[in-house]
Amino acid sequence: MTGRFITLEGGEGAGKSTQARRLAEWLSASGLPVLRTREPGGTPGAEAIRELALFRGPWDPVAEAMLMFAARREHVAKMIRPALKAGIWVVCDRFADSTLAYQGYGLGLDHGVWRRLADLALEGLTPDLTLVLDLPVEAGMARAEARGANNRFEMLGTDFHQRVRDGFLAIAEAEPERCAVIDARAGLDEVWSAIRHRTARLMPALAEAA
Ligand SMILES: Nc1ncnc2c1ncn2[C@@H]1O[C@H](COP(=O)(O)OP(=O)(O)O)[C@@H](O)[C@H]1O
Ligand SMILES: [Mg+2]
Repeated sequence: MTGRFITLEGGEGAGKSTQARRLAEWLSASGLPVLRTREPGGTPGAEAIRELALFRGPWDPVAEAMLMFAARREHVAKMIRPALKAGIWVVCDRFADSTLAYQGYGLGLDHGVWRRLADLALEGLTPDLTLVLDLPVEAGMARAEARGANNRFEMLGTDFHQRVRDGFLAIAEAEPERCAVIDARAGLDEVWSAIRHRTARLMPALAEAA
């Protein structure tokens, strides 16, 4: 059987990386083979593109989206697809929705361009479940600031981050079967509980452990 593909999405400081670790550990403890990875990045080539995309620039919007999808194409072709094919569950910290939210909703990239790049890069690969961690912009920025190490997007203003947040919510609303909006204002354990219960729906054996 092929593995399941779970992505975590949301703005800065929403708790994606923290919860991705918990989720991968829990799936693994449940006896499933798991790969935890992140975007942009995941493979050596894609990590090199990550440096360009997040810490260089600013880029032309289409060029920026192409960089994101070039990294994603590498990641999907060399890591994600082979893992899923081998029955491994993949937990990915950010994926294609982030490019639509940041470059599309946030920076004004034409959504049709995003769609064409996504079709080219992904050839139909869609997550089985996307957890959208939703948090008010100010709270997310405060958490991200406390954590440190600012990339180019974290330094953009409140208006940009509000458009990104609204973008993620619009994406989730358009695809309610795939996406679950998780209220990320709560404490770590409460957010984790919501994630665990939603993920457990992917497999009966997990529902018993949730
Ligand atoms: N639910 C939460 N409540 C309080 N602090 C949190 C919560 N989730 C994450 N944090 C903290 O906020 C910071 C950012 O979390 P992180 O998982 O790195 O977010 P992201 O990957 O979405 O940017 C970290 O210091 C983390 O410990
Ligand atoms: Mg993170």
